[in-house]
Amino acid sequence: MRRFSEEYLSATRAGMWTDRTALAELDLSTRRQVLDVGAGTGELTRVLREELTGDNGQVVAVDADPGLLEQVPPPRVVGDATRLPVTENSADLAVCQALLVNLETPARAVEEFVRVSTDRVAAIEPDNGAVTVESTVERERTLTRRARQLYLDGTDVDPTMGAVRGLFERAGLADITVRRYDHVRTVEPPYTGRGLEGARRKASGEGLVDDRRTLLAAGLSAEGFDRLRSEWRAMGRQVVTQMRDREYRRHETVPFYVTVGRV
Ligand SMILES: C[S@@+](CC[C@H](N)C(=O)[O-])C[C@H]1O[C@@H](n2cnc3c(N)ncnc32)[C@H](O)[C@@H]1O
Repeated sequence: MRRFSEEYLSATRAGMWTDRTALAELDLSTRRQVLDVGAGTGELTRVLREELTGDNGQVVAVDADPGLLEQVPPPRVVGDATRLPVTENSADLAVCQALLVNLETPARAVEEFVRVSTDRVAAIEPDNGAVTVESTVERERTLTRRARQLYLDGTDVDPTMGAVRGLFERAGLADITVRRYDHVRTVEPPYTGRGLEGARRKASGEGLVDDRRTLLAAGLSAEGFDRLRSEWRAMGRQVVTQMRDREYRRHETVPFYVTVGRV
């Protein structure tokens, strides 16, 4: 199982659901019992809890990583998405965000969602193959594209999944809808602590080191990795310099797809 840090999840989800129109099909105001599977630190759980109305509704966060789940206020349950520790028909919505793209058997998780939900199943999944980056540091665009492609080639899951209509159809779900939602992340002056931390990680090459094993699995040699890391760190130093002069700007667009089906 790929592990995620609390910092990564809060940095990549910041401001994600300021606009919630793409969540309309989840019909959240009518929900009573929601399962957020692969909840991580609860970035989506918080949004779901804000949208539920009335005193009876609750959102239970489920994740296989107890360390991350500890950050989510209860109710929460440690568990595997492909063997959910809940009885059948115990929720009226089972939903996940950026979970299926990390699973070797995403179909098995969707079957579990169908087993536990009486009404809707939803998956909010990115297409990481279609991410775009614009930056005032010219080589950032080409380097991130290269590192991303190596990551996609080396991983044994499908980070480009996006819309999951086929998975939902095969699980027997009906009335399937798909909506695209672009999550745009911007770094520009005045820089936030998160923006500065992102620059520090680029200059140190830490982010790339986290993915080293996957990049080598794509066929990159150890020397090739070291060269890529040194180019990456040079790019990071340029980012830091531009930030000092308040000239650095970066826009990243990650397309997410909200797929909803009826049991
Ligand atoms: C990319 S994170 C997404 C977290 C959160 N949904 C969000 O969007 O911020 C993927 C999450 O899935 C969890 N995960 C991975 N495999 C899992 C499994 N088999 N069962 C339950 N959770 C799993 C990870 O621990 C991690 O918290």
